[in-house]
Amino acid sequence: MLPKPVITEIEDLHRIYRRRVPKMFYDYCQSGSWTEQTFRENETDFDLIRLRQRVAVDMEGRSTATTMAGRDVAMPVALAPVGLTGMQHADGEILAAKAAEAFGVPYCLSTMSICSIEDVAEATTAPFWFQLYVMRDEKFVDATLARAKAAGCDTLVLTLDLQILGQRHKDIKNGLSAPPKLTPASIANMATKVGWGRDMLRTKRRFFGNIVGHAEGVGDASSLSSWTAEQFDPQLDWDKVKRIADKWEGKLVLKGILDADDAEMALQVGADAIVVSNHGGRQLDGALSSIRMLPEIVDRVGSRIEVWMDGGVRSGQDVLKAVALGARGVMIGRAYIYGLGAMGEAGVTAALEVIRKELDTTMALCGEKDVHALGPHNLLVPKGFRGEWEEHRTNA
Ligand code: GLV
Repeated sequence: MLPKPVITEIEDLHRIYRRRVPKMFYDYCQSGSWTEQTFRENETDFDLIRLRQRVAVDMEGRSTATTMAGRDVAMPVALAPVGLTGMQHADGEILAAKAAEAFGVPYCLSTMSICSIEDVAEATTAPFWFQLYVMRDEKFVDATLARAKAAGCDTLVLTLDLQILGQRHKDIKNGLSAPPKLTPASIANMATKVGWGRDMLRTKRRFFGNIVGHAEGVGDASSLSSWTAEQFDPQLDWDKVKRIADKWEGKLVLKGILDADDAEMALQVGADAIVVSNHGGRQLDGALSSIRMLPEIVDRVGSRIEVWMDGGVRSGQDVLKAVALGARGVMIGRAYIYGLGAMGEAGVTAALEVIRKELDTTMALCGEKDVHALGPHNLLVPKGFRGEWEEHRTNA
């Protein structure tokens, strides 16, 4: 038997993940749109912020616990909605939701998941969150919301930055689909992914579970790009967002806000929280990183609404930096997908444990005992970090 790998950092999981999962799905996770500038800067901009070391401060009895949209969380981290999670590991959404529940952080299921809303509800007891893309077909949207409510979802995460899909070159070149299309190249690659294939053959969940069998008269529901082009509503505007907000009875989180003016709009439709996000650098290439945009948005609306962020969070130090800059919490995507693809449920737990330990130790070395006490005083932020760009606003 192979020795159990020692996991001390997220990169350990990334390395195993890369070896275990077919290239098509690895590339789907590990890419941004076009030049990938925003994708890269989401990570590298975190490195520009440094931490302020303090000493001789009582560090006994530390706590990373807080709340996100009223939910008690073991640390200010939620698992972000990630499309095709069930292709990274068989039954991936179920496994990630179970790991999140046991750890005490929220799990958010994507519309474009492989396991369905009902599959995840059946496997878990804590209410999970549901992420919605607004489709042209209002009946489908209403039915999906009703299914989420019936499954006990108490929080709706409405994604606003993907009504058309940003182009990711690798997905096109790989012919990304779920289940994977069998081409000589994909067969040759999958043949080397023995563990992944064995688990995948054992499950029946290999299609977009919230869509196949639930949407009528659809074209190709196996490809994210064709489904998006056909079904996502390009006419989504704030009136439609408001209509969905009024319909949904639970908490509402608006994801994909990268501009303070849009954050104001989110407040007006009655959202409970916003996620400062550029979709992990997968949509508007050339947009600024989420961590760079966070302070301005916190300044504008932070006293009136919970502000969260996602994009580039790969460590507890990153979580600390985001919280110190005013985020109530963060969402992680790739960091837990690496764990899931590497080792299933145990890998998601390992990712969460790595991040919590890093957060806890970093808090201590910064002289803080309570995650709520974190603030800009813990950071050294380079001059100009908030941006020296000239803006040409018409509606500021
Ligand atoms: C979908 O959410 C994607 O970014 O691929």
